Amino acid sequence: MTEKIVLTGIKPTGDLHIGNYVGAIRPAISLIKEPDILPRYFIADYHALTTVQNREELHDRIYQIAAAWLAFGLDPEKVLFYRQSDIPEIFELSWILSCLSNKGLLNRAHAYKAKVDDNIANDRDQDNGVNMGLFNYPILMAADILMFNTDLVPVGKDQIQHIEIARDIAEHFNKTYGATFTLPEALIEEETAVIPGLDGRKMSKSYGNVIPLFAEEKQLRKTIFQIKTDSKTPEEPKNPKTSTLFEIYSAFADKTDTNSLAKRYEEGIGYGEVKQILFDTINEQIQEPRRLYNELINDIPRLDSLLQRGVERARDYAQPFMQEIRKKIGRY
Ligand code: TRP
Repeated sequence: MTEKIVLTGIKPTGDLHIGNYVGAIRPAISLIKEPDILPRYFIADYHALTTVQNREELHDRIYQIAAAWLAFGLDPEKVLFYRQSDIPEIFELSWILSCLSNKGLLNRAHAYKAKVDDNIANDRDQDNGVNMGLFNYPILMAADILMFNTDLVPVGKDQIQHIEIARDIAEHFNKTYGATFTLPEALIEEETAVIPGLDGRKMSKSYGNVIPLFAEEKQLRKTIFQIKTDSKTPEEPKNPKTSTLFEIYSAFADKTDTNSLAKRYEEGIGYGEVKQILFDTINEQIQEPRRLYNELINDIPRLDSLLQRGVERARDYAQPFMQEIRKKIGRY
């Protein structure tokens, strides 16, 4: 069986929370362990530049995300792990692809379209607050993907359209210049856990209801004890299915432990005790990565050298391929 190239980009969003861990980091790390795949994970720092336009913030976010993924077991020997902006070929390809992309295709891209629709609805100029980076975002993403002949792109549902755009652009190029790019497919993990936050709504930075991933132990415990519950007494039987605490617990515990906690809910258990159990469970799983994270984030030169390894390997691939592409378009 031939190996499949699996590539995904991680946008450096700061302040990771446990929802990012169970929804994105954990499934991507476990994917690496599957047979017959060649994983390539990169930090999409220039994609972040469409919104993060503060020097320190971008810098810090890049290293935080690198440290976090490494702390959770991303092995840079097994996974090609690099920073997008270190690969100049991607940006050259991005330009070439932009010349082969219909503007109409990009007009329909969700993120751009949502902004335009919002402007129109609010009587503003339709391109108010839209930078060209946002408009070209899907083309740069196509370059990320096509540069490495990617077969599969593990992404959330919100990114499916971007993969379709990449396919479209690849097909257009192949038709114009002959078979060059592999047509990528999205790999949608149906079962990734979405967990509720402190107030029971989806855990999200924009709701301000998150449990930070690398908070110190004391802070983690304090935050977990802030999770909202109803006012049932400890003895009263409770329905685990409507409990935020239980939902979060089941994203961290195995089936057996989850079932036994469900039973205790039905028999009557105090929320204080559940919170303690939840804290112990999460803390046990986060402890070692947190230690590693703190070590790495305080050692930027080490992070740089880990990323640099990836850059060299990525460019070993990208440089000759880019040369081939240049020839195809008439630059020989
Ligand atoms: N747009 C993706 C996100 O917001 C990040 C990304 C950039 C990406 N380039 C990519 C994902 C290439 C997959 C493949 O999550």
